[in-house]
Amino acid sequence: MSVIALVGASGGPGVTTTALAGLLTWPLQPGRRVLLAECDPDGGSVVAGYLEGRVPGPHSLANLQVADRLGRLEEGLWEQLINLSVPDAAADRLLLPGLKSPAQAAGMQQTWPRLATLFGAWHRSAGCDVLLDLGRSGAYGASGALAAAADVVAVVVRGTLRAAAAARPRIEALQEMAAARAGQGIGLVLIDEGPYAERDLVQYLGLPVLARLPYDEKAARILAHGGDGGKAFSRSPLLRQAAAMGAQLQQVAAARQAALQTPAGEVTARGSAR
Ligand SMILES: Nc1ncnc2c1ncn2[C@@H]1O[C@H](COP(=O)(O)OP(=O)(O)OP(=O)(O)O)[C@@H](O)[C@H]1O
Ligand SMILES: [Mg+2]
Repeated sequence: MSVIALVGASGGPGVTTTALAGLLTWPLQPGRRVLLAECDPDGGSVVAGYLEGRVPGPHSLANLQVADRLGRLEEGLWEQLINLSVPDAAADRLLLPGLKSPAQAAGMQQTWPRLATLFGAWHRSAGCDVLLDLGRSGAYGASGALAAAADVVAVVVRGTLRAAAAARPRIEALQEMAAARAGQGIGLVLIDEGPYAERDLVQYLGLPVLARLPYDEKAARILAHGGDGGKAFSRSPLLRQAAAMGAQLQQVAAARQAALQTPAGEVTARGSAR
């Protein structure tokens, strides 16, 4: 089980869409779960978008401020989760809806780091992979604690100059953090739009590609705005590739966890475990 942070940059590269596609298709062993926590300080968008406002109650990350002050962050977390599994299936695909307004982020200053610590332990006890949508600014400031605590940080980027230029300064900051975090897995989730080839982006941004997703307007529109896509939606190129992305991100997280468990003396000078 692992914590995987998805981050972006300005221009709306598709972090929330990618995270939600990940939640809906995440490869799950029996008895395991996956949670998408919308921790974008600029606010969440899944409830008003994909869910078209149809939710069972006022569930929100914002409610965790109060739970945190009362010393009941973990119980509060469970209370705020919405089950997005298909009807009649086990409640194994969970959503923590994000803030309703960026103004609420100010009240989260104390809670972000405690939430990061909680996720770091909770994913094991709850048997739950955690996907964090940190949005365009979430890797900075107080909420940066969430990125720092993740096993893997995946930067969502498209193959356009605008997207790559917006991502580069964020990546530099994240790389510094990853260096201080004992080999934290950090790389790109590349959305196939724009003229740049994978190798050009890898060179320009200095990160490996962890997964690629197709540019699939039809399926992305349903994930961003809702609507009934029928069977074609679940068979869409985007959702199919998202399942592969989930398996790839799980592998990167598992490799990092294995490296952390390897005693330092067993690691050769070239960095590989014997
Ligand atoms: N793989 C994709 N193919 C085609 N369009 C996409 C894809 N992913 C996202 N989009 C589209 O890009 C737009 C922005 O997506 P999204 O809201 O996920 O971006 P974001 O990075 O979360 O933005 P923000 O920083 O505003 O939260 C939406 O219209 C969505 O439909
Ligand atoms: Mg978003």
